[in-house]
Amino acid sequence: MLNKHNLSKMKEENKKIAMITAYDYPSAKMAEEAGADMILVGDSLGMTVLGYDSTIPVTTEDMIHHGKAVTRGAPETFKVVDMPFMSYHISMEDSLKNAMRLFQDTGAQALKLEGSGEVLETMERLIGAGIPVVGHIGLTPQSVNVLGGYKVQGKDRETAEQLLEEAKQIEAAGAMAIVLECVPRQLAELITSYLSIPTIGIGAGAECDGQVLVYHDILKYGVERVPKFVKSYMDSNEQLGEAVKSYVREVKDGSFPEEKHTFTMPSESLPKL
Ligand code: KIV
Ligand code: NA
Repeated sequence: MLNKHNLSKMKEENKKIAMITAYDYPSAKMAEEAGADMILVGDSLGMTVLGYDSTIPVTTEDMIHHGKAVTRGAPETFKVVDMPFMSYHISMEDSLKNAMRLFQDTGAQALKLEGSGEVLETMERLIGAGIPVVGHIGLTPQSVNVLGGYKVQGKDRETAEQLLEEAKQIEAAGAMAIVLECVPRQLAELITSYLSIPTIGIGAGAECDGQVLVYHDILKYGVERVPKFVKSYMDSNEQLGEAVKSYVREVKDGSFPEEKHTFTMPSESLPKL
């Protein structure tokens, strides 16, 4: 399995890191069978599988519940679990306890924390305690209400400098990798060349050391609209939708089940009425 060491080696050798989210047993199994280098149990599960309209309502319990299922589906793949909203902001003690449960109970190999600033100290403490950490800067969805929406970050000189600074600080805190979300590709390229830890981009261009996308976006499964940076490789809404409609139609018109779907018994064994 991947680790901090061979992840950095992939960067040195210019080998792209393929990361995908997974939230349950089948998606994890599929990611592992596809040869993904890393699986992210993202708090995007709040939207993709729980039907919330942001990641804000997601709890530590939700992450543990889904993380365990992912581990059963992808036992051999490096798994990163998101620390959800406010689970690492109340106090150091609370953060460490939540991190311990997210790490131990799910069997993940690392935790991901959004942002920098006061989160840096938490990262250091986690790493010091033996929990590998992945950073996440740029568009950080847990802060959507502070950022003022889901939009590209770091487009001007000042915010670009700030993001570069945050990336340096996260590397200095000991993080093993960093997710760059929704930043211009020129800035992502600059950060990628500056850092020695790998960058994993989502909406951050091709120069990042790796890419991550949301499982449901790749499959266009349950999501109505996908952002510009997503490539959907199929339209599950349409294809799965057709299959489910066919089932309902066939039950109603009596064409399902057929003889081949049916069990039989000798007629003399039937109770007499
Ligand atoms: O939760 C998530 O899916 C993520 C990725 C978009 C990086 O954090
Ligand atoms: Na996330």
